[in-house]
Amino acid sequence: MPSYTLQINGQQMTVDADADTPILWVLRDHFQLVGTKYGCGIAQCGACTVHVDDVAVRSCSLPIAAVGDAKITTIEGLSEKGNHPVQEAWKAHDVPQCGYCQAGQMMSAAALLKENPNPTDEEIEAAMRGNICRCGTYVRIKAAVKTAASK
Ligand code: FES
Ligand code: FES
Repeated sequence: MPSYTLQINGQQMTVDADADTPILWVLRDHFQLVGTKYGCGIAQCGACTVHVDDVAVRSCSLPIAAVGDAKITTIEGLSEKGNHPVQEAWKAHDVPQCGYCQAGQMMSAAALLKENPNPTDEEIEAAMRGNICRCGTYVRIKAAVKTAASK
């Protein structure tokens, strides 16, 4: 089994895994970074969203062999104290209901704001469209993204 050294949340981490192992399972099962969730497994729900070099990526569909030296950030590494503007806005708007989708939602929102600090409504909707929330928290998510953008 090959060995891979990954850059995760600012740390080098080494793991033995099959080349086609999705990064989602490396994060959760090997490194106990369980904030990243499994929803559909086929890049359709966004629950597993992480950043790869600051871009929102579905970790369920990213094999470990494709990562190379790219910098992976999970919800655990988004900020040191859980105080990224997106996390603060999520708290202020009391966004989560069951919470299952919300790490993925915040990672998508943070990637959007990094690339585009002042998104229009349409740009927010486009960036967040791939993140499904069964609890229907979409109105609060959009409001929180706007609040985070204003910070
Ligand atoms: S679990 Fe990856 S997109 Fe649904
Ligand atoms: S808060 Fe329950 S799925 Fe989104």
